[in-house]
Amino acid sequence: MYKFTEEQIMIRDMVREFTKNEIEPIDKAMDETLSFNMEVYEQVHAKLIETGLMGIHLPEQYGGGGGDAITSQIVVNEIAKGSASIALYLDANWLAADMILEHGSEEQKQKYLPLAAQGKVFAFGLTEASAGSDAAGIRSVAVKQEDGSYILNGGKAWITNSGVADYYLIMAKTDPNAGAKGISVFIVPKDAEGLTIGKFEHKMGMRGSATCELSFDNIRIPESDRVGREGLGFKVAMIALDGARISIGSIAHGLSQHAMEIAKAYANERTTFGKPIKAYQGVAFKFADMYAKLRAMELMVWETAELKANGKKHTVEAASLKLMSSLWCKEICDECIQVLGGNGYSAEFNVERFYRDAKLLEIGEGTSEILRMVVSGAYLAQ
Ligand code: CAA
Repeated sequence: MYKFTEEQIMIRDMVREFTKNEIEPIDKAMDETLSFNMEVYEQVHAKLIETGLMGIHLPEQYGGGGGDAITSQIVVNEIAKGSASIALYLDANWLAADMILEHGSEEQKQKYLPLAAQGKVFAFGLTEASAGSDAAGIRSVAVKQEDGSYILNGGKAWITNSGVADYYLIMAKTDPNAGAKGISVFIVPKDAEGLTIGKFEHKMGMRGSATCELSFDNIRIPESDRVGREGLGFKVAMIALDGARISIGSIAHGLSQHAMEIAKAYANERTTFGKPIKAYQGVAFKFADMYAKLRAMELMVWETAELKANGKKHTVEAASLKLMSSLWCKEICDECIQVLGGNGYSAEFNVERFYRDAKLLEIGEGTSEILRMVVSGAYLAQ
């Protein structure tokens, strides 16, 4: 529906084939181990580097592929058709690296972005055990020292890519009395003295995406690793999340499409009472509803990605997209299980895994409840 450039179509077709051959076949294996499967992850990571996809979103001057927000979403969307977990991994990696791209100093860009383009992994550290939705309520604190450096203490929870990331973009209070205006962002390397990375969480879904707790014990951070000016961290995080919420829409669309393809093939083959089940309106109408949702998601993804690509504010559009696409994706995966009946409930047919993956989309990077606050607040204020 969206008119991609010739180059974007080429990238889409390349990523589609790569996903079919390299990503889709390993998604199940990553789910089956319950805890994060490092061995499979390392193979996927190496392949993503080999194809040049890790840095496709970064400008060429920093060694990236020069892709804009539409190109990035093409990649996330195609990868999600084979593995929502790996698409989420790319989303979180890009969300964190883009904070440096959009708010970092030229020195930081030259130091870190070529590393990101070469395949070093980044993670976004905002959420804490006692503050996820109330982002300004974080308690990690970075105290400025006489020499300009900071000492970081506290911790983070539910950090996507933790345990595999090389660099963490950590939000911490630099002025605990200033609310949202007292937060700053820091780059913390994985081997920083005082950083402890917890065990991999056991999760309902998205098991191919690493999630751990982080704890900070007197980590010294040079002033040169603060991203943006002191106190700007909350806005930097919110802007990053505006972009990441487009990726969640993209993942929801890709995952939904994959589930529907499986259900469609099944509805064609499976017969009851002498007819393929697609001949029954009770089944066929499910596909009508699912297709209408898929189409709406698709339109919203490319419209919002285009706003971002053109440097336009997209807070409400991204929140609306994430709110509806995560709900529709969960509903679509649920209906696909229903079409497959008992087989849908079996791991063999994959759709039960997609349903478990889909649930995360309503929680991560802004819960549906927070997104309703963002959308209603903006709409009612007009
Ligand atoms: N873009 C730019 N600036 C923004 C902004 C945006 N999208 N949203 C808010 N701001 C600015 C406001 O304009 C305001 O600035 P001024 O004071 O200068 O006017 C400032 O930030 C404070 O805004 P609010 O008063 O609206 O802040 P709030 O405390 O009421 O919070 C909220 C608003 C929308 C609820 C916000 O806290 C929020 O989005 N919470 C959800 C956070 C979230 O998504 N958490 C999950 C993290 S994802 C994760 O951790 C997983 C992973 O690994 C990737």
